[in-house]
Amino acid sequence: MKLHTIPAHIAVIMDGNGRWAENQGKKRTEGHREGANAIDRLLDVALEYKIPNISLYAFSTENWKRPITEIQAIFGLLVEFIETRLDTIHAKGIRIHHSGARNKLSKTVLKKIDHAMAVTKKNKKLTANFCLNYGGHEEILSNFSRVMAARKAKKETLDKPISPKEFEKYLYTSPLPPVDLLIRTAGEQRISNFLLWQSAYAEMYFTSTLWPDFGRTSLEEALLFFDSRKRKFGGLL
Ligand code: IPE
Ligand code: IPE
Ligand code: MG
Repeated sequence: MKLHTIPAHIAVIMDGNGRWAENQGKKRTEGHREGANAIDRLLDVALEYKIPNISLYAFSTENWKRPITEIQAIFGLLVEFIETRLDTIHAKGIRIHHSGARNKLSKTVLKKIDHAMAVTKKNKKLTANFCLNYGGHEEILSNFSRVMAARKAKKETLDKPISPKEFEKYLYTSPLPPVDLLIRTAGEQRISNFLLWQSAYAEMYFTSTLWPDFGRTSLEEALLFFDSRKRKFGGLL
């Protein structure tokens, strides 16, 4: 497939795991398991198209409202995902990054993520940013404290205005570029507190495909959509 522009950063709201499972008379957890396989496919196609950054919304700050059994299943699958895929991910030149608050995440989960980040930190082909215990509001609010802490450490004045450049340096996603293309699966057309700052000028692509069914053609359709957009960033063409 021939494309003129490739997004530098794609963000994916991987929605519809539960509905996928319910449609097949399976437990919601089975949907999350299939969702993990869809991540493998996405990363492979992303490598092929030389997409440098992908953010994956895996667990939001609002998802703690779900039953504890489902929460445990999701984190169990995440730990399993890292254990079973880390070697292949590393061999493919993928760097793992985490975005989200560390509080509330268990020691086991943090240990796995930190290990995966350390192992893959020099990889350059693709950054897979796992957004876990991530919320756009929490990120923006806590970022003020990170900016101020950094200023204090450098003995700088605390009351000069914050520039976007200074602010962005401390976001969880730093040093990833802004989101060019935001994809949401499963028919819902809302942002659900995902990458609010970073998606300010993102092109939005919605599909009714449920996340576990998302594959090569689905990503290619999204890339074609992106390629057809005329981006103006507030200016004139
Ligand atoms: C998205 O699928 C995965 C997570 C939020 C962890 P859902 O679990 O939200 O699936 P639906 O929306 O109930 O179908
Ligand atoms: C968004 O999906 C969060 C993730 C995909 C991790 P939700 O299913 O939680 O979003 P809402 O509740 O439909 O807005
Ligand atoms: Mg959902």
